[in-house]
Amino acid sequence: MTSTPTAPAVPVPAPHSAGCPFGPPPAYTEAAATAPLVRADLPGGEPCWLATGYADVRTILSDRRFSADVRHPNFPLLVAGRRELIAKNPSFLRLDDPEHARLRRMVTGDFLVKRVEAIRPAVQQIVDEALDRMTDGRTEADLVADFALPVPSLVICQLLGVPYEDRDFFQSVSRTLLTNTSTLEQLTEAQDELLDYLRGLATRKRDQPEDDILSRLAVRDDLTPHDVASTGILLLIAGHETTANMISLSAAMLLDRPEQAARLADPAAVPGAVEELLRHLTIVHTGLPRVALEDVELSGTTIRAGEGVIAMISTANRDESVFGDADRLPVDDLDLDRDARRHMAFGFGVHQCLGQPLARAELQIALATLFRRLPGLRLTVPRGELAFRTESFIYGMRSLPVTW
Ligand code: HEM
Repeated sequence: MTSTPTAPAVPVPAPHSAGCPFGPPPAYTEAAATAPLVRADLPGGEPCWLATGYADVRTILSDRRFSADVRHPNFPLLVAGRRELIAKNPSFLRLDDPEHARLRRMVTGDFLVKRVEAIRPAVQQIVDEALDRMTDGRTEADLVADFALPVPSLVICQLLGVPYEDRDFFQSVSRTLLTNTSTLEQLTEAQDELLDYLRGLATRKRDQPEDDILSRLAVRDDLTPHDVASTGILLLIAGHETTANMISLSAAMLLDRPEQAARLADPAAVPGAVEELLRHLTIVHTGLPRVALEDVELSGTTIRAGEGVIAMISTANRDESVFGDADRLPVDDLDLDRDARRHMAFGFGVHQCLGQPLARAELQIALATLFRRLPGLRLTVPRGELAFRTESFIYGMRSLPVTW
């Protein structure tokens, strides 16, 4: 490491606070209060940098001198011993251009705002039907299992052409792959099973193509079966776990803030409210990993070529200099009328979330419909008993027991 910082290195991942479960781990917010760039220790004990401020995080994510290629020997990994496994099957999320651009281009058209606007009625129908099922003859439910998870799973299954009947399988292997305490054995098994599953599906679709993304990928001669399967895995996992966790965490926060939940009754307020929920919750709590390809100076410190860095979007999204406003609540409070549009919950730069138009549509429709149809929604357990997914790369809730 280049500079000689005085503060001890921050562990990544760091534990969450039981008293403040919706915010980023206190070690990151404390680091952010100390300096925009601090030293960190990865689980294997390797050192790396942790960028906490908005300006540095934006630079790291948009400057080509930082690589997202997981095959780089110093790429910072949040699970020790996982390098070989991930490097064996990188999706375009963990590749640089031109490979990244070549593969991303194959699916860009499917997630354009215009395309997503056209499927809003289908998303609304999926949301309505999920609520019909959840409330049919019942007065209690688990909002995660009965609503937050089925809605984005059904949507991504329809778009990709993955049979929804297989959800138990792909939801459980996705969880294993996203859990930072999974053993190497569990990870290898889960990755192999999911690869086999998607390769099999792609082969069937190559023979009998349908109107879905996997079919369109499978019939291309310029993609290998490996390209199709790794892109399919990325879209399937990113497409359901992220939005599901945003729906349940948002609902849990709003149940405590009825006056803010009431803002969702105004259709004009819903898009802005969702941006503030994305900013406030920034569910990729473990940050976005990159490795420097050249020496780069950030906030007066030189990051040397070959050093790893974690761009902590959760603290960047609470940067006072960007989101602070004397007329509004403090940046670490939820304020649905805040102008949060500059948040980086979807990342920034060439890897910025491909599915963001879809995620926005799902969140706007799911949350507005949930609070409109169930105005009496409330928890059935004390708030302190809620269980969170603290061990996942994507923060979320295990369950959310509710009545209405
Ligand atoms: C609220 C929901 C979501 C959040 C918070 C989210 C967040 C993110 C973030 C932070 C990145 C950047 C990772 C990096 O730079 O290292 C990303 C990338 C990506 N996301 Fe999402 N995402 C969400 C929903 C979705 C959905 C619904 C899809 C649809 C399939 C999706 C597909 C992708 C893909 C394909 C990438 C890789 C883009 C690239 O490398 O070029 N995401 N997402």
